[in-house]
Amino acid sequence: MTVPVLEMRSIVKTFPGVKALSDVSLTVAEGEVHALCGENGAGKSTLMKVLSGVHPHGSYEGEIRFRGERCAFKDIRASEARGIVIIHQELALVPYLSIAENIFLGNEHANHGFISWNETLRHAAALLERVGLREHPQTRVADIGVGKQQLVEIAKALAKKVELLILDEPTAALNDEDSAQLISLIKELKGQGISSIIISHKLGEIAAVADSVTVIRDGRTVETL
Ligand SMILES: Nc1ncnc2c1ncn2[C@@H]1O[C@H](COP(=O)(O)OP(=O)(O)O)[C@@H](O)[C@H]1O
Ligand SMILES: [Mg+2]
Repeated sequence: MTVPVLEMRSIVKTFPGVKALSDVSLTVAEGEVHALCGENGAGKSTLMKVLSGVHPHGSYEGEIRFRGERCAFKDIRASEARGIVIIHQELALVPYLSIAENIFLGNEHANHGFISWNETLRHAAALLERVGLREHPQTRVADIGVGKQQLVEIAKALAKKVELLILDEPTAALNDEDSAQLISLIKELKGQGISSIIISHKLGEIAAVADSVTVIRDGRTVETL
C-alpha cells in the first residue's frame, strides 16, 4: 500500500464563539486531484488554512501527516518548505509589481545580496511557459486579467517547488474559457507529479478534473467519493 500524500485526521478548530471544524478527516492519494466541496461556511477554507500553517500547530486539534510524516507547521513558510502551497480565494499578488517580481517575491534570485535580474527574468519566462501564460515577465500584474493572475499564482507556486497545490475556489471569479484553461493546467501538473486539492462549488468542473471528492458540512466530513 502506498502512503498517501496527505492525511488529516479528526481536525477540530475553534474560533471565539464559533466551532469552524468539529471533526474533519481528509486523505489525498499520491498524484491525485482531490475536490473539497461543501456549502459556504462549511469550513473548507479553514481546513486548508490549518493544513498550510495559516492557523499554526497548537491552534487546532487533530493530526496532519504529509507523506507519512507528522506535521506541525508554525506558519506558511514552514508548509511551503515542505512543498505545500496554498493559493487563497483572494489572490495575494502585488498589482503594481511585474509578473516576474510577483513570482519571486520573498524568494528572490540573489547573488551576494544583489538580485540577479537576468536570472529572474529567464526563470520567470520558463515558468510562464509551463503554465501557458503568454505575457512578458515585465508586464505589471495590474495590467492583466484575473484569469492570467491566477496563472501567475500557479507559476509562483511552481517556483517554490510545490508538491501539493491547494486552490481555494480558483474559478469563482473566472469566465468559462479561463476556468477551462485552469482545469486543463491542473491536469497537466498532475501528469508532472503535482497533487492538488481544489475547492469548488461548480459540479461540472469537479467531474472534469477530480479523482476523488470529500464533502464537508457544518465542520464535519460527510462523504468521501
Ligand atoms: N478567522 C476567523 N474568525 C472567526 N470565525 C471564522 C474565521 N474564519 C472562519 N470563521 C468561521 O468558520 C466557519 C467556516 O468558515 P470557512 O472555513 O471560511 O468556510 P468555507 O470556506 O467553507 O465557506 C464560518 O462560520 C466562518 O464564519
Ligand atoms: Mg472559503
